[in-house]
Amino acid sequence: MDAINGTSAKTATLSIGDKSWDLPILNGTIGPQVVDIGKLYGQTGMFTYDPGFTSTASCESQITYIDGDEGVLLYRGYPIEQLAEDGDFLETCYLLLYGELPTAAQKADFDYRVTRHTMVHEQMSRFFHGFRRDAHPMAVLVASVGALSAFYHDSTDIADPQQRMIASVRMIAKIPTLAAMAYKYHIGQPFVYPKNDLDYASNFLRMCFSVPCEEYKVNPVLSRAIDRIFTLHADHEQNASTSTVRLAGSSGANPFACIAAGIACLWGPAHGGANEAALKMLGEIGSVERIPEFIKRAKDKNDPFRLMGFGHRVYKNYDPRAKIMQKTCHEVLGELGIKDDPLLDIAVELERIALQDEYFVERKLYPNIDFYSGITLRALGFPTSMFTVLFALARTVGWIGQWKEMIEDPGQRIGRPRQLYTGAQRRDYVPIARRK
Ligand code: CMC
Repeated sequence: MDAINGTSAKTATLSIGDKSWDLPILNGTIGPQVVDIGKLYGQTGMFTYDPGFTSTASCESQITYIDGDEGVLLYRGYPIEQLAEDGDFLETCYLLLYGELPTAAQKADFDYRVTRHTMVHEQMSRFFHGFRRDAHPMAVLVASVGALSAFYHDSTDIADPQQRMIASVRMIAKIPTLAAMAYKYHIGQPFVYPKNDLDYASNFLRMCFSVPCEEYKVNPVLSRAIDRIFTLHADHEQNASTSTVRLAGSSGANPFACIAAGIACLWGPAHGGANEAALKMLGEIGSVERIPEFIKRAKDKNDPFRLMGFGHRVYKNYDPRAKIMQKTCHEVLGELGIKDDPLLDIAVELERIALQDEYFVERKLYPNIDFYSGITLRALGFPTSMFTVLFALARTVGWIGQWKEMIEDPGQRIGRPRQLYTGAQRRDYVPIARRK
């Protein structure tokens, strides 16, 4: 990170009236240069204004890089395609947390540590029984992950590096267990304990789909598919939920509370909730013949309808994750012998029509990761209400990696954005009897 820490010879000049200020320009290792406005208020008395953070780098990070114009996604420099094809999810977790790919011994040790933390405190199951059966599994996940801080007091001291790492491993290990419990509770089946001789993805599938009266046989093709889906979702730099985790963590809140905040943010349909919304939309479209009607609605500014699973704040090209997801979708359907999936037919045709439509071409709106993930997850046996839960499970490592990076930065301060105030000016209180 020498480059970003060293100010380049260039500066940007800001002129207001007859005064001007030189602002340092910082270089990353790749990606756009950044104008450092950290001293702007002190020097000029002015703030910058960027709602939605479209032009603002909120932090320095060494974890994930996205080139939205080229459709590139790198974790610690490694392309997502290579990690999804040749690596496995726990290897990706190690890479995101420690910065380098593990050696065989490091990988075995990490797998062992994660596997040994998969059980949750037995009292957690009683906590679950307080929820209504029809509670959305995301509501249950937000609450149960937040509740981990009430159960694991010995890993909430953020100043202790060992406690930070234990909390990190605990969440990577326990969130699949909590996610599966949320699912089982939702469908009225008994909770299934983790089985430590299975790999991460197979263990999760078993906790979701096995029942006490029948032994569950893990299908390696499906387990590999879910592992790849986890890798695809593992991190995505400073998106809304990750920024939420960083902001929550910047106040010194414990890691379990911060990740619960990230899960809450992910739930929204513009973010992680889009996979659920995309599948619902395909069902609502119902047949290939009705696609033009929905394309017309998506383009109509007076209609709030949007093509779910389409468009991205950063990608102005095909989302590289969507390509791998599309391939995984075909593999899963093939393995399950699903020759005709009407929703897949609608998705393929919808994509074809949209990618030729001037509206979508002009705005560079391409399918994102959520477009094909719903069809894949549904084929794997998950109800739509679980889709965002799976996203949260996989993104946990990214949130943790970003949170750790922030806490371990010696210059870390509380995140405190400012505002452009447009409310009332100072005025005096009027007693209620005198108000009109
Ligand atoms: N359908 C129709 N029009 C769209 C869509 C869409 N899905 N997405 C963007 N647009 C239009 C939008 O109306 C605007 O048009 P105009 O310039 O005429 O006003 C233009 O494209 C730019 O859109 P924006 O809302 O300013 O873009 P944004 O960067 O603020 O929003 C987004 C990005 C992902 C929220 C948005 O594309 C969207 O709502 N997509 C559907 C939801 C979705 O699939 N979300 C998942 C994102 S990927 C996974 C994740 O991050 O969790």
